[in-house]
Amino acid sequence: MRLERKISETLIREALEARDMAYTPYSHFQVGAALLCPDGTIYRGCNVENAAYTPTNCAERTAFFKAVSEGRRKFSAIAIVGGPRGSSLTERDYCAPCGVCRQVMMEFCSPAEFVVILARSPEDYREYLLEELLPMGFGPGDLTEKNGL
Ligand code: THU
Repeated sequence: MRLERKISETLIREALEARDMAYTPYSHFQVGAALLCPDGTIYRGCNVENAAYTPTNCAERTAFFKAVSEGRRKFSAIAIVGGPRGSSLTERDYCAPCGVCRQVMMEFCSPAEFVVILARSPEDYREYLLEELLPMGFGPGDLTEKNGL
């Protein structure tokens, strides 16, 4: 499924604004995300690093955890923008979500329906389904009666 262009552009603009909030004193790699709920609500997230490194939270998970902590459980799409601080995103590779963030998406989203937008600008983006980015993912459906549980 493709999103309406206007919705994709809005999400990308929100992700770009979220990216300005990234706390990245170690990697200087700033990521922003904007997560869309079916009712149109958007939750923003940025990456938040830590001196101990492993507690670092990616932008995508920040957005998901903000939304889930506010009672949301259903999601339609996420836009992601990222690159080194101060660099022009238009000259860089698209920023793809890490494996841990893909797994968090798998927890709450339908792999055949959830749209992941990788963007360099509101006009320059690619859309993927979660199932393309995480083939044969393991999710909540695997921990049900169908597996004898
Ligand atoms: N990062 C994200 O926030 N999302 C991604 O999709 C890739 C990586 C962050 C984590 C860390 O703060 C920095 O980018 C470098 O890995």
